[in-house]
Amino acid sequence: MAAGPEAAPSPPATEYLPSISDLMIATIQPRHERLWRAEQDGNWEFAKYELGNLKGAFNRLGHAHPTQGAVSLPDMITSVTEQPFKELGSAIQSKDDAAFTKAYAGLTDACNSCHQALNHGVVEIHVPSRTSPSDLLTDGKPRN
Ligand code: HEC
Repeated sequence: MAAGPEAAPSPPATEYLPSISDLMIATIQPRHERLWRAEQDGNWEFAKYELGNLKGAFNRLGHAHPTQGAVSLPDMITSVTEQPFKELGSAIQSKDDAAFTKAYAGLTDACNSCHQALNHGVVEIHVPSRTSPSDLLTDGKPRN
């Protein structure tokens, strides 16, 4: 069958680079929430899986956006997340809820310290709860 008009080469699509905020909402925020839910449900396998995916998402973010203003994003990511990621890894390994809670709070602080450092302190992340599974704080109440 002869090639129809649909076989004609289409013009190259305009490159779309997801912005930092697009990546935050699509790849970082949901995994931060899932990680918490996994531990709440005692699903350590899934927690381990999501922790790996969250690290990967931060790596890809740094590759996609090497700088934010004058700041190196990969360096910033490492400096705030390295410690909590390490602590989360060992808490998950030893299935230690108390250690997880502490490390998860540290990770959440890491989210906020980068937001503040990069002039986006308006984006306030908190530890989800059973009544509010979202990690985004928009009601101005004190963080838990
Ligand atoms: C290395 C820096 C950095 C870290 C770490 C970081 N963020 Fe962000 N985040 C940003 C920046 C910069 C923005 C604002 C981007 C913009 O609007 O241009 C942002 C924005 C956001 C937004 C708002 C996006 C929108 O469109 O409403 C959410 C939600 C978010 N981050 C979640 C998180 C969570 C959850 C974590 C921790 C697991 C985290 N971020 C860690 C840099 C960071």
